[in-house]
Amino acid sequence: MNKDSATKQWHTEIVAQGDALEPALTALKKAAPIAVPTETVYGLAANAEDEKAVAAIYAAKGRPSSNPLIIHVSDYQMAAFYGSFSHKAQQLAKAFWPGALTMVVPKQPHSGLAPAVFAGHDTIAIRQPKGFMASLITAFGRPLAAPSANRSGQLTGTDAQAVFEQLNGRIPLIIDGGRTPIGLESTIIRVIDADVTLLREGGIAREVLEIFLGHEIAGLGQTKTLLAPGMMQSHYAPCAEVTLNADSLPPKAALLNFGAQSIAGITDETPIYELSASGNLDEAAYNLFSGLRALDQISGHICVVPIPQKGLGAAINDRLNRAAAERPANAG
Ligand code: TXA
Ligand code: MG
Repeated sequence: MNKDSATKQWHTEIVAQGDALEPALTALKKAAPIAVPTETVYGLAANAEDEKAVAAIYAAKGRPSSNPLIIHVSDYQMAAFYGSFSHKAQQLAKAFWPGALTMVVPKQPHSGLAPAVFAGHDTIAIRQPKGFMASLITAFGRPLAAPSANRSGQLTGTDAQAVFEQLNGRIPLIIDGGRTPIGLESTIIRVIDADVTLLREGGIAREVLEIFLGHEIAGLGQTKTLLAPGMMQSHYAPCAEVTLNADSLPPKAALLNFGAQSIAGITDETPIYELSASGNLDEAAYNLFSGLRALDQISGHICVVPIPQKGLGAAINDRLNRAAAERPANAG
């Protein structure tokens, strides 16, 4: 039996978030993973203390078991029960939580979490989110493990319909909170004592963290695969071929535009999705995954204009580079 046929089949319901608390709690108590809106992207959430529930997340996503999960908490107290926060980590939590910052810290020895959450690591990734997810964790009283709500390697879901297209039949419930306000996953930093390392660009710009800390944040360098197990080169991949830094458009290609640029080869028939006509990077982040998905549905080739590498532009470029990367034959 392959991994797909082993996945439990569900009738997938989409429920508006105003009506979703009770059905969400019922599903969580039954160890079923559910799609939940956060301020960054939709998460695929389940009880982090329940081995069966965590295994169901990996199965529904088709995620390799070597790739650990973020646990989502209701407050700092819950976070400190599961992770060991240095003085610096505590300051960062105070300043940026609830919010789009995930911190990787040493795990507490007693954690009580399902071992699969860690995928063999002695650290734990923790985030206090905003949005419906925050009220759900408070009502549930336990941390929720949640990767982004997409099939492994594919485009991240930033609205209920996008999640449905990838996870229909694989989970019982999608909670519809509309488009997620940031549109990109959280920024991930590793904080051990006073050392801060950036593991993933995301919804809080590196510059904002550096101003708060008063120093530059180191990137990953050579230690990459060891410390950031999930940062595969090919990820966020649409079906279409993706070409970056386009300055002209081949026939039949679609254009993912920024700042209403006019490039050679555009015709009246060219499908164009504008990330931000005014050149606003926050707006472009909000639109990124929706834009890639919209163009993927109408074209086999998406060309993207250059995006400035500052503010949320760094996270946008990170996702675009992975969307354009060569895809392994067995990508999930
Ligand atoms: O905004 C977000 O971060 C969303 C929402 C749902 O919270 N979640 C999300 O999860 O993007 P996911 O699983 O798609 O990406 C989390 C990344 C993965 O690349 C994983 O490898 C990494 O976090 N990660 C988890 N635990 C880690 C650890 N202990 N050390 C290093 N990286 C870790
Ligand atoms: Mg993800």
